Amino acid sequence: MSARPSTRQSLLLIGCGSHARVVLDLARAQGPLWKVVVAIDAMKKPDAAELEGVPIRGGPDDLEPLLSGVHGALLGIGDNALRERLGARVLAAKRALVSCFHPKSSISPRSRIGPGVAACPGAVVMTGAVVGEGAILNTGCTVDHDCEIGAYAHIAPGAHLGGRVKVGARTLIGIGASVRQNIRIGADAVVGAGAAVVADVPDGVTVVGVPACPSFRR
Ligand SMILES: CC(C)(COP(=O)(O)OP(=O)(O)OC[C@H]1O[C@@H](n2cnc3c(N)ncnc32)[C@H](O)[C@@H]1OP(=O)(O)O)[C@@H](O)C(=O)NCCC(=O)NCCS
Repeated sequence: MSARPSTRQSLLLIGCGSHARVVLDLARAQGPLWKVVVAIDAMKKPDAAELEGVPIRGGPDDLEPLLSGVHGALLGIGDNALRERLGARVLAAKRALVSCFHPKSSISPRSRIGPGVAACPGAVVMTGAVVGEGAILNTGCTVDHDCEIGAYAHIAPGAHLGGRVKVGARTLIGIGASVRQNIRIGADAVVGAGAAVVADVPDGVTVVGVPACPSFRR
């Protein structure tokens, strides 16, 4: 379920760490579409009472009861697998998984963006691209024409994808990495910071360097 409400709606923010603060900032920068009324800690019972003015009302066990009082949720979790699990719980509770786009991101109207996506300042998505549920498009990344970004993937700050690149579910494309056009990167893979990817990357494999090669050190 995606959400583009015409009136102000209440949201729950899942997470209270750094990425939650980023997502809260994106939602606030977007103007008065939504109001984030409550947050939860995604890992444990919370030790703080509030996150930048938003009350933190519980831990992961409190998600469903708190969802019943709001229109939808924002995914403020950096860990791709955990974000996926919590996104599934939001949808199972029949609440909207809300996408937020910083006003200085540039998203082609001829791209398709799934629910629960976060687009940071300077993120660019070009025509024909498809961005899956819960993906993070971090600061200044570029996703060129006809790319396919899998669900819950993370394109880190300053990473650049040429045209028709495919990125699998939950994969991290690290800070400042470049991926040549038409490359396929599997699911649960990691492209190290600064890598230049010029060959396909299988599922679950970490690659680093220029040109990127599998890393056996993990
Ligand atoms: C590739 C990566 C996953 C490896 O992480 P790790 O398994 O914890 O590796 P370590 O930091 O222990 O480093 C192991 C070795 O790999 C090297 N290495 C680590 N990252 C590297 C990279 N991006 N490029 C080249 N070499 C790298 C280290 O220098 C080290 O080499 P050494 O054994 O010769 O000393 C990680 O460094 C990385 O680049 N992650 C992406 C981070 C990112 O972009 N996050 C987004 C935040 S918004």
